[in-house]
Amino acid sequence: MAVIGQGTWNIENATRSVTVAALRRGLDLGMTHIDCAEMYGSGAAEALVGQAIAGRREEIFLVSKVLPTHASHRGVIAACDASLARLKTDRLDCYLLHWRGAHPLEDTIAGFEHLRQQGKILVWGVSNFDVPDLEEAQRIAGAGHPACNQVLYHLEERAIENAVLPWCERHGVAVVGYSPFGNTGDLPSARTSRGRVLQEIAEAHGATVHQIALRFLVRESSVFTIPKASNPEHAAENARASDLQLSNAELERIAAAFPLERGRRALPML
Ligand SMILES: NC(=O)c1ccc[n+]([C@@H]2O[C@H](COP(=O)([O-])OP(=O)(O)OC[C@H]3O[C@@H](n4cnc5c(N)ncnc54)[C@H](OP(=O)(O)O)[C@@H]3O)[C@@H](O)[C@H]2O)c1
Repeated sequence: MAVIGQGTWNIENATRSVTVAALRRGLDLGMTHIDCAEMYGSGAAEALVGQAIAGRREEIFLVSKVLPTHASHRGVIAACDASLARLKTDRLDCYLLHWRGAHPLEDTIAGFEHLRQQGKILVWGVSNFDVPDLEEAQRIAGAGHPACNQVLYHLEERAIENAVLPWCERHGVAVVGYSPFGNTGDLPSARTSRGRVLQEIAEAHGATVHQIALRFLVRESSVFTIPKASNPEHAAENARASDLQLSNAELERIAAAFPLERGRRALPML
């Protein structure tokens, strides 16, 4: 499974043909993990992904998410069927609860297990779960579940390193970091000391600062990242970050420039 994948939130806002080209460029260069959600563009993002992956489903690790408002036992099943129809496929590789809502976790997990037995999903996971939520999910579902926890993780928001990431590593739960470029795509300018650190390391590798940021975020083997790119050039740049190797000294420099304590309020869950 590709460690650097492709996000799809807001992809419907760009020109359709360009977005589809960006997703396909990413796939061609190995970013075969695609993350979507029924929420994104109210289904429009999934429809675009369906178009982009047509004829190449077998290459792809396809993820989607159910909204908390749909996360009853029956609601999960109906939402998954609708996502599968938009994505024009018969199965998801992983299905996530987007964030915790009012439906009891037992009901959501029963819906996930039903889908798993039907072969409509291969595994299920969660998103935006803190340690107590993860413990509750594992108490209900048993060891080996959830498969992953998708959480906010970028250079300026490393809070998951305090408790969520260590818990997930202890329990074999993959961590998928979202918004690796802080949602905006902007990284600190080279006029700032933090920006200069990224710039110098990028120059040493003939790389870009965005590639350096991605490599830093996936430095632990349990962590994946899913940058979103509507621009095919951005997609290609992100994919090529997989080829970079940063030294321990470089990783430590970046960690010092973007310390854990800088962690700000998490983005609203989307
Ligand atoms: N589970 C959750 O609650 C949750 C929440 C947020 C996000 N997510 C997932 O995580 C994915 C990624 O997060 P995100 O969409 O918030 O934002 P992001 O990936 O942090 O940033 C996207 C922005 O970065 C730009 N960009 C991408 N590659 C670039 C590059 N190489 N150089 C310069 N700019 C670049 C994009 O521009 P262009 O589009 O113009 O290329 C876009 O403006 C989402 O799409 C979604 O799938 C999940």
